[in-house]
Amino acid sequence: MLKALTFLSPIALLLTGCTTYSAPLVSATETAPTPLEGAVSSADPRATAAGEAILAKGGSASDAAIAVMLALTVVEPQSSGIGGGGFMVHAGSDGLITLDGRETAPASATGTRFLDSEGERLPFETRVTTGLSVGVPGNIALAAEAHQRYGKLEWAELFEPAIALARDGFLVNRRLHGSLSDRKERAAKTEAARAIFFGDDGEPLPVGARITIPDLADTFEQIAAQGSSAFYDANADALASYVAQETPRDGAMTPQDIRGYEAKARDAVCAPYRTYKICGMGPPSSGGVAVAQMLAQLERFDIAALGPESIEFWHLFLESQRIAYADRELYIGDADFVAVPVAGLVDPAYIATRSALINPTSALQSVEAGTPPGAPLARADGDEPPENGTTHFSVVDSDGNAVSYTSTVEGAFGSGLHWGGFYLNNELTDFSSSPERSGVMVANRVEGGKRPRSSMAPTIVFDEDGEVVLVIGAAGGPTIPVQVARSIIGVVDFDMSAQDALGLPLLMAFGTTVITEEGSVVAGMAQDLEAMGHGSVRLLSPRGKANALLRTENGWESAGDPRVAELLVYE
Ligand code: GLY
Repeated sequence: MLKALTFLSPIALLLTGCTTYSAPLVSATETAPTPLEGAVSSADPRATAAGEAILAKGGSASDAAIAVMLALTVVEPQSSGIGGGGFMVHAGSDGLITLDGRETAPASATGTRFLDSEGERLPFETRVTTGLSVGVPGNIALAAEAHQRYGKLEWAELFEPAIALARDGFLVNRRLHGSLSDRKERAAKTEAARAIFFGDDGEPLPVGARITIPDLADTFEQIAAQGSSAFYDANADALASYVAQETPRDGAMTPQDIRGYEAKARDAVCAPYRTYKICGMGPPSSGGVAVAQMLAQLERFDIAALGPESIEFWHLFLESQRIAYADRELYIGDADFVAVPVAGLVDPAYIATRSALINPTSALQSVEAGTPPGAPLARADGDEPPENGTTHFSVVDSDGNAVSYTSTVEGAFGSGLHWGGFYLNNELTDFSSSPERSGVMVANRVEGGKRPRSSMAPTIVFDEDGEVVLVIGAAGGPTIPVQVARSIIGVVDFDMSAQDALGLPLLMAFGTTVITEEGSVVAGMAQDLEAMGHGSVRLLSPRGKANALLRTENGWESAGDPRVAELLVYE
């Protein structure tokens, strides 16, 4: 087996992460539990209100989640939208299913899409902010598939809140203003976007300014009236032509790529953790496997007794991350294109061998991917850059359905290309730039029609009676599975509220470097962690953006990331 410790560059993370991670938000922080009638947690109160309005009209959890996704396209354009894709995990009376609305590469895309003739990565501007990075958007197809399966209200009704926001306007909050400032070049790449989000002086509109997006309202009205075919058929020629004109080399998106797009129903990845069952998204996401592995590898330790203020716990968590991410780097790609040994990766006997690598008192100096049952013969690590323009929302309804949905345009404002009133994703940069290493195939290499590997980890946790107890997910690129696993540990092992669990520090291993948040309890452990062999511990500004619903004896607790709550104001 090839050595697998090619974690993401911490320097790249530092460069790309500071501004975008630190500008997120939350919605229903510190709200009192609501009765078990239905609840919504999202990254913006206006999107949460859209979901709640749909629930109040008798809509299903899926209906409300679609309304949230559409509303976020308007009020949180830096993170997600109908120009991007997402994953939905749905639990209901008919069982558990995941819907894959991940973007696809054009049919003509090849493994060298992001390389020059010397085999070097193309410059950032060529890779990321052109049509090369844009995958066929999947969120509208996902929504249509979910509505067909689980819809209670009319399709058009789900668009009403988002149309109102786009047509009547919404106020710029601190978070959007910060993102527009931090990522100005990308946000203001097109004249269309400049006219919406920037003033005559070329600066981002100030906090409190009202924005309307009539083109987006028109797009929504068209899709509301005609169905998803308005997006994938009626507009296919115009959208493909726009993306092609912005694509500097071969492999541009075609109308056929758009017309052929399908959201796919896939089995969830589930694994036990103590008395709970943790279920999430399988390939093309690495999220479900990574969360399951990190937790399962820790199960033999008495984490509750260690507690969240002990260095022993955080050391164990770092080690479990390193081991899980080594597998992730090597094995996870789009399972429609490459063999991914999902069952083997969460197989209890295999997990036991991986957990046995963890030494409670000292850090591993290198970790290789394991050989799970069903492992393919040879794989090489990829070299995917980290990005994080993503959002998560959770919805439950009074019929007991639960939806965990993570939606993304990849980087902040995606590719910066703006069409029909929304930003187009740069999701294809989630592929490895290198198709192979020394002749050995990278699972996540670019291929025509393939979906890039994701870190998104929409998750539903069930108790031993099979009841949904936690509906959770996060934004933040490769940190997503870590945020989700940490929060589940907070609830399950530390008996925390969802709000407190989301507030636990982010501590993540990137190879031999560790990042954590300045001012957090683990920041004070930095030297001791280094003494345990954890390499260099870097303190960064607080980061994280998770949302969750937790069943309590008083009803659903709706929780959002406390780091970002203050950015949701309009003054
Ligand atoms: N683009 C973020 C993710 O899929 O992980």
